Order: sequence, then structure tokens, then C-alpha cells
Amino acid sequence: MSELNNIALKVIGNGKGILAADESTGTMTKRLDSVNVESSSKNRLIFRETLFSSESMKNCIGGVILYDETIKQSSSSGKKIPELISDSNAVPGIKVDTGAKVLANSREEKITEGLDGLRERLKEYYKLGARFTKWRAVYIISKNYPSKLSIISNAHALARYAALVQESGMVPIIEPEVLMDGNHTAEDCYKKTSEVIKKCFEELIIHKVDLKGTILKPNMILPGANSKEKIPSEEIAKLTVKCLKDSVPSEVPGIAFLSGGQTETEATENLNSINNNNQTNFIMTYSFGRALQQSALKFWSKNIKDIKGTQTTFNHRANMCSLAAQGKWSQNIETQDN
Ligand code: G3H
Repeated sequence: MSELNNIALKVIGNGKGILAADESTGTMTKRLDSVNVESSSKNRLIFRETLFSSESMKNCIGGVILYDETIKQSSSSGKKIPELISDSNAVPGIKVDTGAKVLANSREEKITEGLDGLRERLKEYYKLGARFTKWRAVYIISKNYPSKLSIISNAHALARYAALVQESGMVPIIEPEVLMDGNHTAEDCYKKTSEVIKKCFEELIIHKVDLKGTILKPNMILPGANSKEKIPSEEIAKLTVKCLKDSVPSEVPGIAFLSGGQTETEATENLNSINNNNQTNFIMTYSFGRALQQSALKFWSKNIKDIKGTQTTFNHRANMCSLAAQGKWSQNIETQDN
């Protein structure tokens, strides 16, 4: 088995998933503003360090995606953040794209940037302890979108990124996120997501990326956030599994979903149903940002000195996600454990 495949399995195997704590400073500031905490570098570190030193890191979190600021910081005990993460047997990862910018000639859409100088930045991140990376492409759904231009150009960038990451000895997370915004149906989401993912793998294969050493991070198949359509979790799971079964080559070891604006419980319930309906050999787990951190952030904001209480809140969420990654979660457990 290749070293990259080993890393991928360490990150997403054994009922573990990924803690996506790679919010850029701008996004993290919005999150902190929403709970009335000042977004200083110190506060961002305190919150993140609190999560990274929680008990559930050992059994529920296989990898943590960091932002450039955090990977270079040290914890209050003086330990480097990547070392703090490795101490729990989790793998440090890093977001390496530089954000989604307006796509020329399709101005409502975005293209993710960050390829210039990437080879050099990857060397630096490897030295800092990162062993996997993330690059996120975003797509909107409406009558004419995502356009061919956006699908092709983002797939091309993702493939160039992935090839460079593997060259540096790290596992690339390929994240094509079809956004929930809009009033589209789940069927629309299914069609567009399938098209987007198929194009990504076409490009990854052209760029000779070793698929066994990658992790796919897609959206679940959901109706738009403003859609009137409400479908049960089992239906979401069936559509999601069918989409991935038909679009993802079997060499890919696993799939780690983003939460994308679902509530913590919605994302957990849907992941659980996905695992109960998983007719593939792919590991199906989580790479959640908001759906792992929301309650913990809210709790912490009330008293940023209550580290233990914040960790208890985070541990509950991480345990629920880990159960869902094994198809063992239930509403009863959710309530009892809380
Ligand atoms: O790129 C997106 C994040 O890593 C996942 O965040 O679970 O809040 O959508 P989310």
C-alpha cells in the first residue's frame, strides 16, 4: 500500500473524520462576530487550541485542517500546533488555496486561486508537519449554472493542485462544493454535482494523480436552502450514494463530506443515513467545519475561560459524528449523551 494511501486511511478510517478548522481570518472573524467575541489572533488560537486538546480528538478526529495562521502558532503550553494535533494521533493538514475569486467571463461564478508559488508553499507546510491539504472549489446552482467554464476551469485547477501536493508527499483533499444557496431541487443538485465530480476525476486522471492517495470532500445531495422541497434523510442518503457510486472511481479510498450550512444534527443524521445506505466500498465520513464547531463556539463565547465546558460540548458533537460515520447514530443517543 502506498504511503499516501496510508495517510488517507489514517485520516478517515476507523470511524474517524476530519475537523475542518481552516477558516480564513475573514471567515473566522464572521464566526466570532456572530457570538460577540473579538477576532484577535489570540482568541482564534484559544478557541482552536481548546478543540485540539479535547479528549475526543483521540477517537473521533483523524485529521485537522488548519489555516496558515494556525499551523505557525504554538499552544499555551509552548507546543507547536501541529505537534499538539499529532499527540492525539491525528494528522495535521493545511488549506492551501488562496480563495475563490470572480471568474472572468462568467462573473457570477468563482474560480479558486493559489497555484502560483504553490510548490514552494507546500515544502514549507510539509516541514511544519502537514501531511494532507485542502483546496475548495465552489459552484452555484441556477438555470444556467454551474457553467461549463466554471466546471472545466475549477476541475483543471484542482487537478494541478492535487498533482503538486502528491509530489510533495502529502494527500490532497479534493473539494468541489456545489453550494446549497438557492431554491433548486435535490434532483438539480444531484445532476449538477454528478457533472462537477465527473469532470474533476477526468482532470485528475489526465494529471496522473494517484487516486488511492486522495480524499474527496463533496457536498451531500440536498434541496437548495430556499427550496420548498423537504425530503427525508434516507432519500438524501440514497441520492448522495448513487451520485458518488456513479461519479467516483473505485480507487478513491474515501469520501469526507462538508456540512455546507446544515445544522449539526441535520449533517449528523444525513451522514448516518448515508452509511446505512452505503452500497460502495468508499469510507463515508465527515470533514465538518460548522457542524463540528457551532455548539462549542456558542458555549465558549459565553465564557472563554471555560475550557472544560467547551471541550465537553465539542466531545459530544465529535462522538455523534463518529457514530454517524459508522451508521450507529440515533436521535436517542443524541439526546441521552447530551
Ligand atoms: O471548505 C469547507 C469547510 O472545510 C467545511 O466547512 O462543514 O462548515 O461547510 P462546513
